[in-house]
Amino acid sequence: LVQFNGFSQRIPSNIDEDQVPPFVLTHPLKYADGKKVKNIKEWENSRRPEILNLFKDHIYGEYPGASVIDFKVVKEDEVFAGKGKRKQVQIYLGKSKELFLNVLLYLPISKAPVPVFAGLNFCGNHCTTFDSLIFLNDNWIADNHKGVSNNTASDSSRGSQAHRWPYEEIISRGYGVATLYYGELEPDHPEGWKNGVRSLLKEELRIEPDKWAAIGAWAWGLSRVQDYLEIDKDVDAKRTIVQGHSRLGKAALWAASNDTRFAAVISNNSGEGGAALSKRWFGETIEHLNSYFPHWFVQKYNDYSGKAEELPIDQHLLLASIAPRPIYVTSASEDLWADPKGEFLALREAGKVYKLYKIAGLAIKEQPQVEMPVGKKIRYHMRKGKHDIQLYDWIQFLDFADYIFKEK
Ligand code: GCU
Repeated sequence: LVQFNGFSQRIPSNIDEDQVPPFVLTHPLKYADGKKVKNIKEWENSRRPEILNLFKDHIYGEYPGASVIDFKVVKEDEVFAGKGKRKQVQIYLGKSKELFLNVLLYLPISKAPVPVFAGLNFCGNHCTTFDSLIFLNDNWIADNHKGVSNNTASDSSRGSQAHRWPYEEIISRGYGVATLYYGELEPDHPEGWKNGVRSLLKEELRIEPDKWAAIGAWAWGLSRVQDYLEIDKDVDAKRTIVQGHSRLGKAALWAASNDTRFAAVISNNSGEGGAALSKRWFGETIEHLNSYFPHWFVQKYNDYSGKAEELPIDQHLLLASIAPRPIYVTSASEDLWADPKGEFLALREAGKVYKLYKIAGLAIKEQPQVEMPVGKKIRYHMRKGKHDIQLYDWIQFLDFADYIFKEK
């Protein structure tokens, strides 16, 4: 038994490669009844919807449609000595206009509209930079973040996760970046749904709160950011890359899976319930997720605590459901909790669907060495070090974006 991230040892976890029992994965190109998927049309019209429905029923719940009716750029400033601009935008979610999301958007100065990386952040837009002109988030924020007490942010939390958001680097490469605090969609605790979109938009979205879950609510918020990007003339919204780290990487994958307006996706260290295989017993398990984060997934997911083998799907199918859009999965060498090898194997398996589209999968069978990115439109790397998102990762994401958009 091992202890990770301060979690108790009550639930067994394995980090010994030799102890991983054999496991069986369903083939992405075989229907639940065993029949083979013959071509792209069948994949798109039948097998992909079958997979999405299984993820809805067993793991993440429903993915409602839009409710947005209006947007407002509240503040716009020049940044980085005239090399870029920054917008602070409100996205109104309901008719009343009382409920809105605060989006922070950085853009390079450019004549042509630019592609944007869209992703959620962990502790408020003000945590992503030291710039004091960013509105301080006044929503519920977990106390374990710097400068937060009584679930309220203070000025000292500014910039606490700035290293994860190298804005200047990103805009200097010709890309924009949009971010939003995930807790605005649903505060991340078991009772959070009562103060989040699942409850507040219940009538408007015509969906009961227990028909979806927190990861679904966060993912849905990313789609609302895309709604805004589509009306911003500085943005080329046909080239949005949705990205996220860890639990927010799980949300980014689920968003890309449901919302095909996202041109590509990046999952950074998303681990169990994200890019990593659940049936491979290594690091975090479904039982850990359900015990520590019961609000992230639908009730049904509990049936698979300690019984991953009974799940009719595994996470390689979530990645496959994004095909043929480009996908980048990353791991970190010390992040065993997220099961780097399980993330790599899931991506490799997903390649079977990309192959239908004549898109090359990962060219190697074994997980590559640290900091040796592999693949092109399906790409993988393992950064050296801990569970995090760092400049090394972003530099690879920018290279990936250059590659996938190069023909256009
Ligand atoms: C915990 C959790 C992971 C999650 C991570 C994070 O470690 O067990 O599933 O990805 O938090 O969001 O940082």
